[in-house]
Amino acid sequence: MTTLRNDLLLRTLRGEQTERTPVWMMRQAGRYLPDYMKLKEKYSFFERCQKPELAAEITIQPVEQVGVDAAIIFSDILVVPQAMGMEVQMVEGKGPLLPDPIKHIRDLDKLRIPDVHETLGYVFDALSLTKKTLDGRVPLIGFAGAPWTLLCYMVQGKGSKTFDEAKAFCYTQPETAHKLLQMITDTTIAYLKGQAAAGADVVQIFDSWGGLLGPEDFEVLSLQYIRQIVAALKDEVLTIIFAKGAWSSLDSMAATGAHGLGIDWCIRPGMARQLAGSDVTLQGNFDPAKLLSPIPVLKKEVRTMLDAFKGGRHIANLGHGILPNVPVDHARAFVETVKEYK
Ligand code: CP3
Repeated sequence: MTTLRNDLLLRTLRGEQTERTPVWMMRQAGRYLPDYMKLKEKYSFFERCQKPELAAEITIQPVEQVGVDAAIIFSDILVVPQAMGMEVQMVEGKGPLLPDPIKHIRDLDKLRIPDVHETLGYVFDALSLTKKTLDGRVPLIGFAGAPWTLLCYMVQGKGSKTFDEAKAFCYTQPETAHKLLQMITDTTIAYLKGQAAAGADVVQIFDSWGGLLGPEDFEVLSLQYIRQIVAALKDEVLTIIFAKGAWSSLDSMAATGAHGLGIDWCIRPGMARQLAGSDVTLQGNFDPAKLLSPIPVLKKEVRTMLDAFKGGRHIANLGHGILPNVPVDHARAFVETVKEYK
């Protein structure tokens, strides 16, 4: 095993002292990078995910071109519904489309809890190859969607601002919803264990739509399943929960024992710290749209964010994924400002 030359992210997640704050960006491998766009002309989205050489190349691009302190494997949260038996298309300019969504208990018959090595082995291969190619430069992050966020897509069949059909499904057919959530949870536990075995140093659970639920429903429909995942992985790999908009549950998220909690820009770092307690690393929370500001303004705003997190365990990141129209030198300025900060 090669030793990591930059393990700032891992030490911060373990609560150890570091010489500076580590930095990476959600969705850092993607459309704002010209080299990514070149590969996009030649290969479809899922081809890029399924060919380990392509996935590894895309994963490493932001490490080399933007200077982040971690790589996140190039893949998508929707490969899990695919592995469970659903068709998922990525429609250019529109986003994901699942033409045959789950609407009724009988639709669950079409799904299976798959053997992850058979169905998602290509992700494990991509992780192993990326790990090898990184050669100890930075840690490697694996990920999966939270069961609730995956249910949103599996039931709604496409992206949505409200996921009204997914919510109606949960509130009118709760037993079916919980059966589905448990199937996704069981698959995700095996999947993330496989990612850790293949070389992921950290895994992040993306609950992009956690904020659509009130605190009680977040517990019932989302957090109780995330808790199972974190409990199953805790001794194998470092874990981060990012439940966008669900900051009112930061206390119960901290109680899961996850090493890190992602927060978006709608909560003050001080308040997040108060809710989460001092025993967990906070990750975030720069408004991704602010990367479009002129560079001197951007740098000042990044320092303001770092000041606000000062004194507690912190990983600098955006509060959600980077936008495709961000100039690469602005992304670089974000990363450099964190690295220069004293
Ligand atoms: O972070 C990274 O750089 C790793 C790669 C990554 C992708 N998707 C690649 C991708 C990660 C971590 C994801 C997670 C993901 N996928 C989430 C959770 C994070 C979030 O942003 O909330 C969600 C909700 C999805 C589902 C998904 N995939 C959507 C809604 C879309 C279309 C909208 C969009 O952002 O383009 C995708 C497509 C997708 N996944 C792209 C990339 C780079 C863009 C499509 C393309 O490049 O062809």
